Amino acid sequence: MRPKHQTTVPHLPLPLDGHGALAEQIARAIKRVILEGKLPGGTVLPATRALAQIQGVSRETVVVAYELLAAEQLVTARQGSGTRVMENLASARTPRSSPRSRPPSRFAARARVFGPSSITSLGPDVRYNLHYGSPPLQSAFYRTWRRKLAAAALQVDCGYPSVAGHPALRNALCDYLARRRGVVTRPEQVFIVGGTQQAFALLARVLLDEGDCAILEEPWYEIAWRTLTAHGAKVLTVPTDREGLVVDQLPRQGPRLVLVTPSHQFPSGVVMSLRRRLALLEWARRTEAWIVEDDYDSEFRYQGTPPPALRSLDMHDRVVYLGTFSKTMFPSMRLGYVVCPESMCDDFLRAKRFADMGCPSIEQAALATFVRSRQFERHVERQVRELAVRRNVLMQELRASLGDELVFEDTHAGMHLVAWFTRLDYAGLARLIALARSTGLGLYPIHPSYTRRPRHPGLLMGFASLGPRELREAARLLAQCLRKVLPAAARRPPENRLPRGPALGRPPVTAN
Ligand SMILES: Cc1ncc(COP(=O)(O)O)c(C=O)c1O
Repeated sequence: MRPKHQTTVPHLPLPLDGHGALAEQIARAIKRVILEGKLPGGTVLPATRALAQIQGVSRETVVVAYELLAAEQLVTARQGSGTRVMENLASARTPRSSPRSRPPSRFAARARVFGPSSITSLGPDVRYNLHYGSPPLQSAFYRTWRRKLAAAALQVDCGYPSVAGHPALRNALCDYLARRRGVVTRPEQVFIVGGTQQAFALLARVLLDEGDCAILEEPWYEIAWRTLTAHGAKVLTVPTDREGLVVDQLPRQGPRLVLVTPSHQFPSGVVMSLRRRLALLEWARRTEAWIVEDDYDSEFRYQGTPPPALRSLDMHDRVVYLGTFSKTMFPSMRLGYVVCPESMCDDFLRAKRFADMGCPSIEQAALATFVRSRQFERHVERQVRELAVRRNVLMQELRASLGDELVFEDTHAGMHLVAWFTRLDYAGLARLIALARSTGLGLYPIHPSYTRRPRHPGLLMGFASLGPRELREAARLLAQCLRKVLPAAARRPPENRLPRGPALGRPPVTAN
């Protein structure tokens, strides 16, 4: 006679997932059937010998599988009456609620709205990818860095890291920032974070409640805009012109913070004038708003010395200064630093503690010796030389092959150029991007960083991750594709559009 609850396991043989030992796979398959409610409590599982035959495994394997299920309290085995599904597993058997139907929080709902970022790389299959991103690194750098990491791994304490950052790195940064950026600070005000991105998220927590107003420059860094919006801030933008942020257009009251890139506006490339810097500091003092200075790539200047940081002019401790190792080292390192105003340090430290208890120690310790020994600065100087070559190649090739079809702002800085088409319209831009993609050329439009599309379409062209030969090819492909998409009437033979000295150098006025 069949025992009281005996039923057969549905869909035998059980589908296995292929991960780990066969006994574990069989146990997982039965667990799933139980949790899906298809085997009520008290159900007797097939005899080990029978299931072994069905699954084509040894009996011993099924015995081990049943033991694993018993250890998880999903089944119980009694001498003589077989292995039964445990009673009272009701909660596990309730039908699955759809995780898509209700966002778990307002933050998640706000974050869901965003699609893929317009500056995210198109992917590795794009051969000539003019995306804005990683810096060039030579093999000598990797050798040095490997040695530093190995040495640091032997030295660091394996307990939790210091939440604020590795003390040696904070000290080394104080020296570096004073000499290179004019920022004089104490190590207690320097925090090591998981890149600028973490700094944005922590500052949002510390400074902004839902509905609080935050100001971004227009054009803006899309990822900052998304981060603050997802946090729940009311994000407003204020235009920039050839002197940087138009401070006169800042609201007279209300904003809690303004995020700026004064050394090299992202993405336009403009350097904020001293006049505007002082006006911005005065505005912050008057309105008691915070200025967040994102100094993301000031190390890369190809002419003259970089302008000192805005923070170096700050007499009222209103500026939060952010630096990153994503450009000078590499983005996957995920390390950056924040110089906090005195009054914000404790709150920032708490936010950092709740977020992650501190950044990984080995990388921080390795960086500390790299920065302290000034190898870091020599490495950056080499990068600047290499980047200057790449930038010049791209500019020369674009001028030679496109003449006045494309004008660009020559800002002598950074890892990208902004180029504006003189005769292409937005429909043409979409065709150009698609055509370029089909030839292996990755192009990135700049208009997603504006509230209203600029009158002429433009591109944000990263030149750091392609070598000179590839950059020449990229420029050639761009010219070839552009010729195909420009309306016939607008096309003129290339010899009529030979290079004409420096670029026209004026970004188009935002269309009204
Ligand atoms: C304006 C701006 N800020 C900061 C960063 C660096 O961000 P993170 O340190 O999170 O890599 C970038 C990198 O692309 C950037 O463009």
